Amino acid sequence: MTKRILLDTDPGIDDSLAILLALASPEISLEGISVVHGNCPAEQGTINALSVLELAKASHVPVYRGCELPLVQPSLLAPETHGDGGIGYAKLSEPLIQAKVQKGSDFLIEKIMSEPGEFTLVCIGPLTNAALALRQEPRIVEAVKEVFIMGGAIRHEGNTTPLAEFNTFVDPHAAHVVFHSGMPITLTPLDVTYQCILMQDDVNRLLKIDSPIPKFIADATRFYMEFHDEYQSIEGCVINDPLTMALTFAPELCNYQEEYVDVDLSGGVSMGNTFADFYKMTKKSANMKVALGVRARDFIELFLERMEKLALASNVS
Ligand code: RIB
Ligand code: CA
Repeated sequence: MTKRILLDTDPGIDDSLAILLALASPEISLEGISVVHGNCPAEQGTINALSVLELAKASHVPVYRGCELPLVQPSLLAPETHGDGGIGYAKLSEPLIQAKVQKGSDFLIEKIMSEPGEFTLVCIGPLTNAALALRQEPRIVEAVKEVFIMGGAIRHEGNTTPLAEFNTFVDPHAAHVVFHSGMPITLTPLDVTYQCILMQDDVNRLLKIDSPIPKFIADATRFYMEFHDEYQSIEGCVINDPLTMALTFAPELCNYQEEYVDVDLSGGVSMGNTFADFYKMTKKSANMKVALGVRARDFIELFLERMEKLALASNVS
């Protein structure tokens, strides 16, 4: 059965790859995108989302601009990771299509409440829009079908501070609201995403197809690979968001544990750190499924196959 997906995102290089994967996957009907601050300002992320949709000839997907700031924390963007424009060295033409007027969190509420039990919410940026939606309309907890979140680091080190992952560090208060909402959450933390590394050889395979999509992927990930090399001595680049998107239709790529997960709001060195109560010491029941193991190369192969199909299809249409 087709998964009707609402995507909340901060595009962003790996976010853009997740959008392309959604469009390339027959299991998915991408029914709207809300944009949140994070990798770049929401204003720029909105333009990027529109441009990536246009690149993939998917301008029918509506885009909604969301929150530009975290709930409490000061703004933190990631130009060193995603470039000033948010898509690395890639250059996309100004989108011909416009974002919708409705705000991102209002869009999420309206869609989820319009058909209870129908929509899968995928959050791959800071959780500000999702938290605002929950506070404005708590009934989305029961109405949403399921929620997939890219964020957190459970046993893995942080990628933004030594202890915290970017999405939960940028807006830890929003993460706290979402994690304790009661929504049916599957979390994709760095523990699994840092095993999913796109290599230059993988990109070269895509470049064998003469199409704007592989060229976009190559230009965007070249910047992203330079970041990983310079800042983390990693060859290749970690594609966090596409893995999260893939789990909506290929959950078998990971194995999961039901755990009680919380996020640190103490404001100190571990602010935004996420942890699981593996030994049940808090006596609190599990609030999410956590992906802790992954068949990384199987996922990368799936991603590459889908990108090849999308590139060939875009040459035809
Ligand atoms: O920590 C990785 C996450 O933060 C990814 O979603 C990336 O796009 C950024 O939003
Ligand atoms: Ca993201």
